[in-house]
Amino acid sequence: MSNYKICVLPGDGIGVDVVDAAIKVLDTVGFSNQVEYLYGDIGWEFWKTEGNPLPDRTIDLLKESNCALFGAITSKPKEEADAELDPRFKNKGLIYFSPIVKLRQLFDLYINLRPCKAYLGNPLNYRDDIDLVVFRENTEGLYSGVEWHPVPEAVMKAFIENHPRAKRFGDFALEDLAISTRIFTRKGVKRILKASMEYANEFGYKTVTVVEKPNVIRETSGLMVREARTLIKNYPSLELWETNIDAMAMWLIKNPQDYGVLVTSNMFGDIISDEAAQLVGGLGFARSGNIGDNMAVFEPTHGSAPKYVGQNKVNPIATILAAKMMLDWLNEKEMAQQVEQAVAEVIKEGNARTYDMGGNTSTTGMADAICSRIEKS
Ligand code: NAI
Ligand code: MG
Repeated sequence: MSNYKICVLPGDGIGVDVVDAAIKVLDTVGFSNQVEYLYGDIGWEFWKTEGNPLPDRTIDLLKESNCALFGAITSKPKEEADAELDPRFKNKGLIYFSPIVKLRQLFDLYINLRPCKAYLGNPLNYRDDIDLVVFRENTEGLYSGVEWHPVPEAVMKAFIENHPRAKRFGDFALEDLAISTRIFTRKGVKRILKASMEYANEFGYKTVTVVEKPNVIRETSGLMVREARTLIKNYPSLELWETNIDAMAMWLIKNPQDYGVLVTSNMFGDIISDEAAQLVGGLGFARSGNIGDNMAVFEPTHGSAPKYVGQNKVNPIATILAAKMMLDWLNEKEMAQQVEQAVAEVIKEGNARTYDMGGNTSTTGMADAICSRIEKS
């Protein structure tokens, strides 16, 4: 009997190589024995051949699964998307959409969790003592997609009638105005804050830093900070720090070792999580979890890296650590710890290094090194 059903979505390009490597590690740590892996189709290939990068059969597999491990997909601009589409689907009004954004919405994966930890011996570390975690709100804010250009007359009229600062935009022609909205809901704000504080508690971080800009963006950032001040009272062992996003970009360079859990809205989180990831090795190390109440999708944050396809060359550590996050989420703490320990030891020894780390170990070579570490432990 398998305890879990895990949906495996390798996707395009190097997504396939890195997911293979992570599965090998999951086999070695003994996880695969108790799992049924459901391999699903996703990505550019299915856009080209079926006009849908996230086929319904994949959504059905996901609904059957406890969670998913995702590799990477290719996505291309509109003109190329149209040109590469199978002639059978052309001129039918099909529009390419990002399957990962769709997954986040479909399964309400409101947490984007990005741990950024420096493993000792990684030549790419900015400093060796960084261990921070970014919680990015994943479903609303400036990425809600509620925007206009040109701005409809009724919208502009409502703005001008309801906000004194909107008046000065009233002189512009509607086609010369573009508006993107930054919508926060109290529910959205509270659940991301709560998730960050629960995580800090569980994994022993001392501080939660809410990263916003309430002095300028008074209503949305203000809501986030006010709710943070209320919620933190439930966590007597945690300290709440408040930092403006612009200052945070600077502090991450100056004193990244001072921070524990950072929590922020969608766009700010998108930006600072990339900055933070670069401090601990960049794309070969950056992993993330898209997490909801009952479903989660774990992935490396890199894309399909077309220039390395078929070369068995890229670093699989980001995906192997994404698999480790999956084990944690499933409460398989011991296996999660074994995987992380093996990764940490291989990095520290320095014998296996992929090209981004200055070495010439292959993708499978790195996976093998980590697997043999697990076998020895
Ligand atoms: P990318 O992340 O695929 O690759 C950029 C460069 O980063 C690579 O050329 C390589 O030098 C390095 N790199 C990436 N992964 C690496 C790894 N595991 N080990 C070592 N080095 C690594 O970004 P790019 O080239 O901008 O996009 C390629 C395709 O991927 C595009 O179609 C893009 O839309 C898509 N993409 C998909 C994402 C996803 O599936 N979540 C995220 C980002 C891009
Ligand atoms: Mg990003």
